[in-house]
Amino acid sequence: MNLKAALQNPIFMTIADAAQELGVDCYVIGGFVRDYLLNRGTPEDIDIVAVGSGIDLAEKVASKLQKKPQVSVFKNFGTAMIKYGNIELEFVGARKESYHRNSRKPVVENGTLEDDQKRRDFTINALALSLNQEDYGNLLDPFNGVHDLEKKMIRTPLEPDITYSDDPLRMMRAIRFATQLNFEIELKSLQAITANKDRIKIISKERIVDELHKILASPKPSKGFTLLHKTELLPYILPELIALQGIEEIEGQRHKDNFWHTLEVVDNIAETTDNLWLLWAALLHDIGKAPTKKFHKKIGWTFHGHEFVGSKMVYKLFKRLRMPLNDKMKYVQKMVLMSSRPQILSEDFVTDSAVRRLVFDAGEYVDDLMTLCEADITTKNPKKQKKYKNNFKLVRQKIIEVEERDHIRNFQPPISGEEIMETFGLKPSKEIGIIKDAIKEAILEGEIPNEYDAAKEYMLKKGEELGL
Ligand code: CTP
Repeated sequence: MNLKAALQNPIFMTIADAAQELGVDCYVIGGFVRDYLLNRGTPEDIDIVAVGSGIDLAEKVASKLQKKPQVSVFKNFGTAMIKYGNIELEFVGARKESYHRNSRKPVVENGTLEDDQKRRDFTINALALSLNQEDYGNLLDPFNGVHDLEKKMIRTPLEPDITYSDDPLRMMRAIRFATQLNFEIELKSLQAITANKDRIKIISKERIVDELHKILASPKPSKGFTLLHKTELLPYILPELIALQGIEEIEGQRHKDNFWHTLEVVDNIAETTDNLWLLWAALLHDIGKAPTKKFHKKIGWTFHGHEFVGSKMVYKLFKRLRMPLNDKMKYVQKMVLMSSRPQILSEDFVTDSAVRRLVFDAGEYVDDLMTLCEADITTKNPKKQKKYKNNFKLVRQKIIEVEERDHIRNFQPPISGEEIMETFGLKPSKEIGIIKDAIKEAILEGEIPNEYDAAKEYMLKKGEELGL
């Protein structure tokens, strides 16, 4: 098969010329070829393998390009990188590799193109396109990667046990590609992943989280989490989710399986958002249910306070996975903490003040919170499904109405602390907080509108009550 059409960017000619001048063969390999064949466009990350020195080739290419871009050389890895506009070119010399058991760092020897293809993770990532004069654009596919692309199959070029044991990150990558591309993982591979699961421990948390992000950003993330579960990797990564699995029955009363429910919620939300942190919130929204589960003879199963416990667990989980402990984490915590609020609202008669409080507490994230709650509807009963959806529609409508009137979303106190001090001739003291709070409460309760004049009048009244 000739795929010259994939090589339209003039950069490929430049690379071909440089390689010819150096007298080395070179190929485009990996994700670029795979994604082109899958009609996923032509990626801007391009991997080039040279049968010779990748670093020398990179230097030569850079010298031929306009503005002579900088070459970043990673001597230890024998690789070099050039950024050229939006394009990132990664050069490596073809190699044979063997690995130490406790490290991902290979012992490297020079090799042929086929040696190099063999050491790659999957047949679909081992496809190479020639940049050599005699067969420019020819596809080199010794492991039937094209067939696997057609069959939508993740398969390793070597015995899977070797491929995964060499680099255990590939266990995550297999599951991530299967989820992203909606491919299946060959049975032998799945078995090898399970057999090597313990080796995930040598992979850095950052790399694992990168893969989790990609799984979450896929059209149907449940596929990835189901595979992580099936291969027994999940307990190493997210034990909090595994703890949600199972249905208990006491005195004929059952609760739902919160693991499978969670995966449904994540799939639902993936259809409506690509906000990665909202996807994380969906994944973690019920994690507090495992430690708070109780059975009461009269009321059955309860998970009191699971939202609060869950939001605390988010911090520990982010810390353990070396995820950022910043406003992203706080956002996820807030979503988990508030995840039942709109539900409670929609069950009762919705009062304006309850809606105002919801908007006040959720602030700018109130829409995201509603999206989460709508995704949380997983009942299979069509009547209930319709009813819950309608209730949330009403809540959303109420939010708009209340917001138009009261502007609570980014609440700024209409009366400042300074003004309170000036009015009553006060020094900084707790009375100021009391008055400010009382004004805020009166607004949220709907006793007064969110306006300056009304708030001032209320402040004077409150001051009188306090004997100021
Ligand atoms: N590769 C590998 N083993 C790994 C990582 C990468 O064999 N653990 C090889 C694969 O041939 C892969 C290539 O290196 O195609 C480039 O890796 P990378 O840029 O991480 O992945 P892509 O395949 O380009 O795909 P994506 O950008 O979606 O990660």
